[in-house]
Amino acid sequence: MPARKPVSLPRLAHMRAQGEKIAMLTAYDATFAAVADAAGVDCILVGDSLGMVCQGRHSTVGVSVEDMVYHTASVARGLHRSQGTTWLVADMPYGSYAESAEQAMRNACALMQAGAHMVKLEGGGWTARTVEFLVARGVPVCAHLGLTPQTVYALGGYRVQGKDEAAAQLLRQQSLELQNAGAAMLVLEMVPAALAASITQELAHCHTIGIGAGNGTAGQVLVLHDMLGMNLGKMPKFVHNFMQEAGSIKGAMQAYVQAVKAGSFPDNQLHAW
Ligand code: KIV
Repeated sequence: MPARKPVSLPRLAHMRAQGEKIAMLTAYDATFAAVADAAGVDCILVGDSLGMVCQGRHSTVGVSVEDMVYHTASVARGLHRSQGTTWLVADMPYGSYAESAEQAMRNACALMQAGAHMVKLEGGGWTARTVEFLVARGVPVCAHLGLTPQTVYALGGYRVQGKDEAAAQLLRQQSLELQNAGAAMLVLEMVPAALAASITQELAHCHTIGIGAGNGTAGQVLVLHDMLGMNLGKMPKFVHNFMQEAGSIKGAMQAYVQAVKAGSFPDNQLHAW
């Protein structure tokens, strides 16, 4: 098989223009990162979901910048040992970007110096100014709207967002503001499939990555442990256990990549609202 070109912002834009879906998975350590890279995953997210899947917390709120730097550096080392073509996104944890744009820049620097290619932050409205500040200083940013786990207590639980017209309109408006601020990627979590598809159409320069948002987005992301069937709690409706049909972890990841690229995962009848 020919060597894969390194995934970069121009490469992601090219994939989008060619109608090729972006396959993203979370990873938190060197070994899983290297396997994901070898399996052809386009983007790895060092998600603050590590608070739950690695640290056993009830939410992502307790995750620190130091935790994120440690796991991002581990994943970056794993990628260097593999072919290292995967785009590496690191989550900015709760409380690490809300005080000021300068605080956000300081913490984004720590993640970029640990090996991230892009940082992700949650929320709309006030975050647009922070995104603009970071992008102007050379930090690629992925935004995150819909169910934003860092604010789960304010949202009242892990619920589908944007269900009524006013909430949907607000999500559309915030998506455009984030694109205009320079966000190159936008995770849409637990929003109705039709809404995520229409936001994707409206955003020409910002690639939407869905999780529980149907198959009309530019790409998909899943939490690694969920797609390997290692979820200790209730499996969310939007997850598919790719390990069931695969004989190995690398096989499960390859099956996920193929299903995302073919548009067969997620199935809007089974996995979306
Ligand atoms: O932290 C995480 O893993 C995430 C994904 C669920 C998108 O933000």
